Amino acid sequence: MWWLYAALGFVYLLHFTTAEEPKIVIIGAGASGIAAASKLYEHGFQDVIILEAENRIGGRVYTTWFDESWVDLGGQWVHGETGNAAFKLAAPLELLEASGEKNWVEFDIHNSKGVRLPLDLSQNLMALLTNVSGEANEALAGNNGSIADFFTAKFNIELQKYPTFNETLVKEVLKMFEGLTIATDSSDNWTDISATGYTAYQDYPGSNIVNWKDRGYGTILDVLMKKYPNPEEELPIMNNTLLNSEVVNVNYNATDKKVLIETSNGQKYTADHVIVTPSLGVLKEQYETLFTPQLPESKVKTIKGLSMGSAAKIYLSFEAPWWSSNRDLILLWDEMDRQEYENDTSKKWLLDLIGFFTVAHRPRMLCAWINGAGARYMEALPENQAFNEAFTLLNKFFGNSYNITRPTAYLRTNWSNNKHFRGAYSFRSVESQRSGVWANELAAPLLVDGKPIVMFAGEATNSQRWASVDGAIDTGFREADRLIELYNTKNPSQ
Ligand SMILES: Cc1cc2nc3c(=O)[nH]c(=O)nc-3n(C[C@H](O)[C@H](O)[C@H](O)COP(=O)(O)OP(=O)(O)OC[C@H]3O[C@@H](n4cnc5c(N)ncnc54)[C@H](O)[C@@H]3O)c2cc1C
Ligand SMILES: *[C@@H]1O[C@H](CO)[C@@H](O)[C@H](O)[C@H]1NC(C)=O
Ligand SMILES: *[C@@H]1O[C@H](CO)[C@@H](O)[C@H](O)[C@H]1NC(C)=O
Ligand SMILES: *[C@@H]1O[C@H](CO)[C@@H](O)[C@H](O)[C@H]1NC(C)=O
Ligand SMILES: *[C@@H]1O[C@H](CO)[C@@H](O)[C@H](O)[C@H]1NC(C)=O
Ligand SMILES: *[C@@H]1O[C@H](CO)[C@@H](O)[C@H](O)[C@H]1NC(C)=O
Ligand SMILES: *[C@@H]1O[C@H](CO)[C@@H](O)[C@H](O)[C@H]1NC(C)=O
Ligand SMILES: *[C@@H]1O[C@H](CO)[C@@H](O)[C@H](O)[C@H]1NC(C)=O
Ligand SMILES: *[C@@H]1O[C@H](CO)[C@@H](O)[C@H](O)[C@H]1NC(C)=O
Ligand SMILES: *[C@@H]1O[C@H](CO)[C@@H](O)[C@H](O)[C@H]1NC(C)=O
Repeated sequence: MWWLYAALGFVYLLHFTTAEEPKIVIIGAGASGIAAASKLYEHGFQDVIILEAENRIGGRVYTTWFDESWVDLGGQWVHGETGNAAFKLAAPLELLEASGEKNWVEFDIHNSKGVRLPLDLSQNLMALLTNVSGEANEALAGNNGSIADFFTAKFNIELQKYPTFNETLVKEVLKMFEGLTIATDSSDNWTDISATGYTAYQDYPGSNIVNWKDRGYGTILDVLMKKYPNPEEELPIMNNTLLNSEVVNVNYNATDKKVLIETSNGQKYTADHVIVTPSLGVLKEQYETLFTPQLPESKVKTIKGLSMGSAAKIYLSFEAPWWSSNRDLILLWDEMDRQEYENDTSKKWLLDLIGFFTVAHRPRMLCAWINGAGARYMEALPENQAFNEAFTLLNKFFGNSYNITRPTAYLRTNWSNNKHFRGAYSFRSVESQRSGVWANELAAPLLVDGKPIVMFAGEATNSQRWASVDGAIDTGFREADRLIELYNTKNPSQ
């Protein structure tokens, strides 16, 4: 029977024998979960399933059809080129377009009295923001506090140089800059963003705003699953993904070293390894009930200490564009108006709406971006109210300069309000810094007898590139590699 064993050994090397085949359950079909599954399938693992709570895959990558085009409710741009996992996958397929000469977008700043800033002033302010942000990395190195002090001091100095600016206007522009700066971190304000987080974040060379032309970021899922460009090469990931399967408990206490996973619809799954990918927001809300036994103290401290930010979008579609295609509409609040809105809880969220942005390859669309607290508030409003107030705001600021038509359609996000996300993406806050917690602690697997049994992936587990799609993909690959290494080094004769 030597030939049988030899054959089995051969099969094992390729695929594992049936008995040895490890069973892997991935919780969450977002970018990280899909990336992990695709890498595992490519390396011969066959017993891999994904349990996904929503009725769709993609998670915070959510490309949807809206008024005759694809739009992204979540991740939209590929940030940076060299080193970016998404860029590496998609660029050779000619799916991407870098912002550049052809589609360079400037600011068109209006204030809440409906007055337009001279275009050259808008341009200068945009350049100043870019310049100072560029200097921040070096200036903030070794800083233990927030980014607010540096930015406030630096902008104050630079804005004093504008001869027409008085103290009030400087204050107003500073607020505008704060809104534009925190949008990348999804925090509520810049006193909350830690300087170490700002400097630790890895920027990649190349354009920071690469778009997907007439497609959306969702195409990355097809590329990962090899459904695109050649559907015949598709990995069996969709076939092994169970939608509407919300995991309520991961029990890693069993004596047979298996993990028992339970969903809210009463299904139970056993696995040799589980990769947990739900967002930091979900972990914050559910870590006490999601795991049996409770997570170790260091993990809990990390989940509590890292911060989950909020951000929201409202897409507005028009019959025809009434704005100039190469100018984002940016809001500058008059100080008295700001105070009035701040005093009114029902209007306050509008102060977090920083602009109506043009959308590449969608000439009839604008996308409003809402930061932090305002995003959470807007998502809880009835749809009509949110849309009407956003449109009223658009008119208040830009109605004097443009003949604004009524939108023909609206679409808004729902990230913080949804219990499967509870926020937009993670960020390193001053509180994280104070607690001394880091993403790599969240990434560390729970070991049973020295083997990784409960593993963690997802954007928030990335210590260099959190808050991004490519960063999430890298964490999925990281955990797949952990298993590939574990099983490759195992002696097949055992
Ligand atoms: C508004 C917005 C704009 C963004 N813009 C960009 C951008 O331009 N560029 C960029 O690179 N990144 C952007 N991001 C960030 C990027 O989208 C995310 O970092 C990334 O998609 C996260 O992937 P993930 O796999 O870590 O998490 P997720 O996508 O959240 O995947 C986790 C999955 O787990 C599921 N899940 C949750 N709980 C359970 C449960 N109990 N049981 C089973 N399944 C569960 C969720 O439904 C989800 O599908 C943006 C995000 C948002 C919200
Ligand atoms: C930005 O920096 C460049 C190069 O240092 C400089 O030439 C330019 O004047 C700066 N712009 C503003 C608005 O500060
Ligand atoms: C500051 O300048 C703005 C705009 O030029 C003007 O409307 C406002 O009255 C000035 N405020 C003060 C206090 O001088
Ligand atoms: C900044 O945001 C955090 C989180 O919401 C909040 O606790 C803090 O009070 C805010 N700080 C300021 C100065 O608004
Ligand atoms: C998914 O399952 C169907 C039905 O068994 C099968 O025809 C198809 O080839 C599978 N797709 C992939 C990508 O494995
Ligand atoms: C873990 O298993 C042990 C032994 O079976 C049992 O005594 C203990 O109560 C379990 N712990 C939890 C949290 O379920
Ligand atoms: C906002 O409220 C503060 C404190 O209650 C008050 O002093 C201020 O006058 C109000 N401002 C506006 C514009 O209503
Ligand atoms: C708005 O429309 C009116 C009437 O058609 C026209 O006179 C005016 O020039 C338009 N304004 C702008 C800014 O296009
Ligand atoms: C947002 O998500 C919550 C929770 O899933 C849901 O109840 C609500 O209807 C959603 N709202 C919108 C506008 O989609
Ligand atoms: C930074 O904060 C940490 C933790 O609070 C503290 O131990 C350290 O001394 C601080 N360093 C500086 C330079 O303030």
